[in-house]
Amino acid sequence: MDRIRITGGQRLNGSIPISGAKNATLPLMIASLLTDQILILDNVPRLADVGLLQRILGNHGVDIMVGGKRTGETQYDGQTLHISAANIVDTTAPYELVSRMRASFWVIAPLVARMGEARVSMPGGCAIGTRPVDLLIMALDNLGAEIEIDRGYVVARARNGLRGGNIRFPKVTVGGTHTAMMAASLARGGTVIENAAREPEIVDVADCLNKIGASISGAGTARIVVEGVPKLNGARHRVLPDRIETGTYAMAVAMTGGELLLENARPELLQAAFDVLVQAGVEVTATNAGVRVACNGAGITPVEVSTSPFPGFPTDLQAQLMALMTRAKGTSHITETIFENRFMHVQELVRLGARIHLAGECATIEGVETLKGAPVMATDLRASVSLVIAALAAEGETVVNRVYHLDRGFERLEDKLAACGAAIERLSG
Ligand code: EPZ
Repeated sequence: MDRIRITGGQRLNGSIPISGAKNATLPLMIASLLTDQILILDNVPRLADVGLLQRILGNHGVDIMVGGKRTGETQYDGQTLHISAANIVDTTAPYELVSRMRASFWVIAPLVARMGEARVSMPGGCAIGTRPVDLLIMALDNLGAEIEIDRGYVVARARNGLRGGNIRFPKVTVGGTHTAMMAASLARGGTVIENAAREPEIVDVADCLNKIGASISGAGTARIVVEGVPKLNGARHRVLPDRIETGTYAMAVAMTGGELLLENARPELLQAAFDVLVQAGVEVTATNAGVRVACNGAGITPVEVSTSPFPGFPTDLQAQLMALMTRAKGTSHITETIFENRFMHVQELVRLGARIHLAGECATIEGVETLKGAPVMATDLRASVSLVIAALAAEGETVVNRVYHLDRGFERLEDKLAACGAAIERLSG
């Protein structure tokens, strides 16, 4: 199993090209199941999760052609996928595949909407929380699908197609909003989705759905209206930049000191996180090329942060912020309100010398002068990169084990950091 070795203490200087967003790419690829025409996606990141989803869609009969390199493209330019779901030959998504990536459960929506049936494995447990799918099922039920739970599979049927309806989510759910939008796009009549997620990835998916002929308005607000259409077409769509990758590198340079240009980054996609960084004493400047982040000051100021749905502070940056606060000049408090078990990185950061005390959903972080390198274990995608951030500032050597977690969501992380001065390398096998 690959590991990553980091020798801390190097400042970061240079520029990092931000890749396309994982959390937009996955629902966009799944949306291809809604149409028999070709969907072309540009700026697709080369991630393990994208590769796995290609396999899952292939299992349904979807053909995916990866566009070859074009003149002038660099190794950091995203890939282009030409996706054709003209012939769906299987509407079952098996446990072996779905259990490896929860978002694949979302295929249930376009399959039942277009094919009238879907049999999709329940995703099972997850390191960061119980993560049930009851609200996704509720949404399909509200659109007229007959739902049955059969030996670990959710079976959804709508022999005469779905019909429009009202969906009010009791809590904000990104996956629920994606699946409700997709299913409602082919339902007869109108659908109103209330208390919808407002994440930028929801807006990106709605934009793409409208390009293939859907009629969606209000994406990005808490109330989304969808007018169903009988059939959808093809289109070309560019995936938006990854705001979580952007925030991660911003936290990294704040931790090490230095200056980075985050190319292609769009500040409005993670304003809450940038506001927290400015509060902590970091310089953040929007430029034509992206966002410049610099930290040359006299240390990091502690902060009080609670994660919340967009436009609040993203839970997917909570671990990275905690790593940064381990070296703040004083005590910080971070409250995790989205997932009930998203502190798996705490004991690993403590192994590097951090002082963190947990009480329920709140972590108290007492800043320390120095962290010391040690072997640590990655437990999930975002927790693993928080260990990388801490190791970049720790004295001596850190080895991060199980980096397959990182590969799920960060494209060429060690190359991007090494190009900016980090002493980081991958140890294979
Ligand atoms: C998406 O997960 C993201 N994943 C997550 O990113 C992200 O952390 C999360 O949204 C919140 O922003 C992708 O986009 C692929 P939710 P999702 O439904 O849709 C509860 C990463 O690191 N809930 O918004 O699964 C749920 O348990 C990943 O890239 C129900 O109770 O999250 C959670 O407490 C991790 N029932 C809350 O709602 C349901 O049916 C929000 O979850 C659905 C969700």
